[in-house]
Amino acid sequence: MTSAAPQPVRLEDYAPPPYLVDEVDLSVDIQDAHTLVHARLTMRTNSESSGDSPLQLDGHGLETRAVVLDGQELREGTDYRIEDGQSLIVTRPVGASFVLETVCAIDPANNTALEGFYAAGPIWCTQCEAQGFRRITWYPDRPDVMARFTVSLEADAARFPVLLSNGNPHGEAESLPGGRHRMRWHDPHPKPCYLFAMVAGDLACVEDSFVTRSGRLVALRFFVEHGNEDQVSYAMQALKNAMLWDERAYGFEVDLNTYSVVAVGSFNMGAMENKGLNIFNTSCVLARTDQATDGDFLYVEKVIGHEYFHNWTGNRITCRDWFQLSLKEGLTVFRDQQFSAAMNSPAVERIKEARMLRVRQFAEDEGPTSHPVRPNQYMAIDNFYTATVYEKGAEVVRMLHTMLGEAGFRRGMDLYVRRHDGQAVRCEDFLAAMADANDQDLSAFMGWYTQSGTPRLEATGIYDATARRFTLTLRQSSAPTPGQPDKHPLPIPVRMGLLGPDGRDLPARLEGEKEEGQTSRVLLITQPEQSFTFTDIPAPPVPSLLRGFSAPVRLTYPWSEEELTFLMKHDSDPFSRWDAGQVLAIRLLLTMTDTHAHGGPMEVPGHFIAAFARILEDESLDPAFAATALSLPGEMELGQQQRVVLVDSLHAARTMLRRHLAETLRDSFQRRWSQLAAQSDPQALDGAHIGQRALQNLCLSYLGLVEDDDIQAQVVSQALHAANMTDVMAAMAILADGQNPKRDEVFSAFHQKWGHAPLVVDKWFSLQATSSRSDTVGQVRELMKHADFSMKVPNRVYALLGGFAKNNQLQFNSANGQGYALVGDAIIELDQLNPIVAARMATAFGRWRSFDATRQNLMRQQMERILAQPRLSPNTLEIITKTLEAPETR
Ligand code: TRP
Ligand code: ZN
Repeated sequence: MTSAAPQPVRLEDYAPPPYLVDEVDLSVDIQDAHTLVHARLTMRTNSESSGDSPLQLDGHGLETRAVVLDGQELREGTDYRIEDGQSLIVTRPVGASFVLETVCAIDPANNTALEGFYAAGPIWCTQCEAQGFRRITWYPDRPDVMARFTVSLEADAARFPVLLSNGNPHGEAESLPGGRHRMRWHDPHPKPCYLFAMVAGDLACVEDSFVTRSGRLVALRFFVEHGNEDQVSYAMQALKNAMLWDERAYGFEVDLNTYSVVAVGSFNMGAMENKGLNIFNTSCVLARTDQATDGDFLYVEKVIGHEYFHNWTGNRITCRDWFQLSLKEGLTVFRDQQFSAAMNSPAVERIKEARMLRVRQFAEDEGPTSHPVRPNQYMAIDNFYTATVYEKGAEVVRMLHTMLGEAGFRRGMDLYVRRHDGQAVRCEDFLAAMADANDQDLSAFMGWYTQSGTPRLEATGIYDATARRFTLTLRQSSAPTPGQPDKHPLPIPVRMGLLGPDGRDLPARLEGEKEEGQTSRVLLITQPEQSFTFTDIPAPPVPSLLRGFSAPVRLTYPWSEEELTFLMKHDSDPFSRWDAGQVLAIRLLLTMTDTHAHGGPMEVPGHFIAAFARILEDESLDPAFAATALSLPGEMELGQQQRVVLVDSLHAARTMLRRHLAETLRDSFQRRWSQLAAQSDPQALDGAHIGQRALQNLCLSYLGLVEDDDIQAQVVSQALHAANMTDVMAAMAILADGQNPKRDEVFSAFHQKWGHAPLVVDKWFSLQATSSRSDTVGQVRELMKHADFSMKVPNRVYALLGGFAKNNQLQFNSANGQGYALVGDAIIELDQLNPIVAARMATAFGRWRSFDATRQNLMRQQMERILAQPRLSPNTLEIITKTLEAPETR
């Protein structure tokens, strides 16, 4: 198949669809050699379109067997033509309403892109978002075309006993001659084709039910490969919790009689919200305490919630075009965050979110693929399922929530649904509903959707003892990003408080205010620079800023070390309390790194150890919070603070600090460890036990750095015998990094034990890929040849190559360039199989301009080698081209 040089798609070129589809009747016949798809589309011209464009449908890799218009077979060349294999253009006039039928053959068994209809091992399934439906049949593949679907699926009854599609069964299953059978499905809700799904396979079904608050009985079905039935109970409970939570928080009810989730092992992303038939990566459904970590469990809960919440924010109200992706994703991530906070510790959840935003989204927004939450141009839309669209998008929604308050936000959501249910809309429509419901002008807020880059907020404070006033000044600025040289100020809600000398919040009353003032309040910054004067402040306060991480900005304030230690001890806001410790640790680690780079002796000041010890020894603290507070910022996060990342010195400094803490506080670590170990229960998944394991294993992660035979034996024993995967992984991670002589033995025992469990084998790959040991590149090369490795299974690629390229700053950036070469080879090979996954791996070079000249050159060589490949996908082409365009310094 040939294809012309890909052209970018632009938001400004949007035009309404010239033709609409009312009904889709699909007959899918799964045969041995191929699958035949007969589509019958009931269509009409769109009165809202300017008219007279020819009828044009999207396709990809379809073998067209027939095209029939109103019962009359069309001839290629005279009645229609196919351009580049991607557009079917009917050159005959069509009526105001008409029926178009096509018959195509597709080949799911050899579909390695995992888009459209494909074989995920024994399970055949679809993935249509964003543009996979065109790989199934000719169709106007855009989200603003919404239709009612009826689907008939036919296949061998023994190999594919289960045949599913969206909606409700439409009649009984029919037996057909030759051991075949047929199932029909009908979805009463009009939907864009990206929400279409079908599944065929030999699957086990675990069933439960939910009664909505208006009394509708909904069957809940989880379909998994046989043998995995005992790993769905957690996800099932999470689904019921999500349904109940959404009713209570937003008044949203399930609108279906059945809600099904299918788990497949080969999937490009986490999960997909297809109407009533979610398809999930096994990694986001299956979980059992002996095989999944606590982090995995919480992630399953979040993703189950996320896909369910899409039913209202995404499916019933969908996107007008793909530029509006964050309309559904940002809002739905915000909703899944609210859900996770309601089910777990809100403080720990918020800290996780902030940390992830800083490490991943800030890096993206400061790099060559920086784009606004609502991008305005793309080559491959799949490249825009990013941390910016998802996580920064969620922060934008959260800021609205902060500014409007819980009740105001809810009023906005109610109005949004009342106005737009059943429609395909834009980010502006969401914002307008929020504004109108609250009688507010939110027009400046649109800048959060259209402007890329992470705003910097520089804060300073002056205390005037005689006037008893404290003046806080905030300056915002944004560095230029690709395509956006000039930036405008944005409205930034800064939640803050002022701590008095006793560590308690003072009433924060602004000049001119009559009331006393809340102790924690939101300042809205709208100008490039703004000052706020607080009155009746008896003594110099310590400001606590950006509480709860109230805006996705980089905030600085010239806190002294004493002030940071004070905040760590007293801040009533857990996020800011945690963050004070992070700021302190970052400062120290950057200083140590510089010292190391200049060959000087690194020193750890006593006040840092004291502050650390205070948290470790404070038994009244929530263990989950203590564990996050005692985790030092990672090497990536530290690297982001450096103009030129000092890869090796950063690692040396961080390791030295960890060792030093481990040795100095060894007794405390040991005492805490034994105390917590006494409370352990490997099956328990409640917050208290998750927190206990987190802190216990944090203690072990420090103790593991001590060269002591007893401790090392304890680590080996935990790796081999612990009954809970969180505990096993904590011990394995220590071994992966260290020089324990039993390391290799334990790794092979682990593989022996878990070789049959793919999700656990993924962990085995990723532990080795993220090791800081100097032989890691060689190990990864070897592991790529391992019988269990496959470039065709995204989970494997993400575990091994993703682990190495994205989670191992030290070894990926090894100065000999071997890490870059390995990843270059992998991208080239992957691109021919699965462009979505290849392009995701290609973002690993995104930070190349932040390294020294030698490393920059080595990375450039790899990128140029990738670009020189024939038939490079538009996905990888777009990422690599943009990355190479990054200017020399920033
Ligand atoms: N819409 C999905 C979600 O956020 C994610 C998604 C988009 C996806 N494209 C995909 C999943 C391709 C799998 C494959 O939940
Ligand atoms: Zn989503």
